[in-house]
Amino acid sequence: MAADGPRALVAGNWKMNGGLAMLKEPRLLVAMLKDVKLRADVMVCPPAVILRRVKSVLKGSKIKLGGQDVHWAVSGAHTGDISADMLKEAGCSAVIVGHSERRTNHGETDEIVRKKAEACHRAGLIAIICIGETLEERKAGRTLGVTKQQLAGSLPAGATAANTVIAYEPVWAIGTGLTPSTAEVAEVHAHIRSELGGLMGSEAVQTRILYGGSVKPSNAAELMSQPNVNGALVGGASLKAADFLGIIKVYT
Ligand code: PGA
Repeated sequence: MAADGPRALVAGNWKMNGGLAMLKEPRLLVAMLKDVKLRADVMVCPPAVILRRVKSVLKGSKIKLGGQDVHWAVSGAHTGDISADMLKEAGCSAVIVGHSERRTNHGETDEIVRKKAEACHRAGLIAIICIGETLEERKAGRTLGVTKQQLAGSLPAGATAANTVIAYEPVWAIGTGLTPSTAEVAEVHAHIRSELGGLMGSEAVQTRILYGGSVKPSNAAELMSQPNVNGALVGGASLKAADFLGIIKVYT
């Protein structure tokens, strides 16, 4: 939460949760944040089919809308996929790409993730690029090597602090209630910042690096206070407005 760092971002990834019954949560969030002065951007990333409905709930608030995934092509024969322009038209300002659940369940490689991030940039959307090691990789002492490789492979040329956010999400911390120690978080974030320096030059300094994986109201302040942590990508705890608010409050 360094005062001179980039403006933080707290993004809620609803994953495959929440139909129309869920609209009450962003409604509550809008009401709860109405007169709150925030030092962070706040975003919700609902399932694609309710993006427009959530957008209208968020109307007039400062809460931004994001997509959870995107196809790399502009249009065409890609059954079931959604283009960056479509997400933009639905009101999104950002898209999560390369989430470990996509990498694992859909075989997404760094190259695919990079192409998706490029598609975001072409459409004027921020790409939130997720990277992170598995438990096996951490135990083998490969965390820094794996995240370096994922960054180099997933970050498109032309990435800037304005159009790209990195989310460090250790795969073993996602949805498990486990989190790395604050020293481990600080170590990986410093490493990512340094690698970004090599890949993006001076843009690296202002590029937001989020931490994700079992962030909740009880651990958010400690995690967010680590150097080079510029916000959070939140799964489970973003589904209830009160919990999400408990995390956002770190930035009030
Ligand atoms: P979690 O998910 O907060 O439920 O661990 C984080 C994520 O996958 O982005």
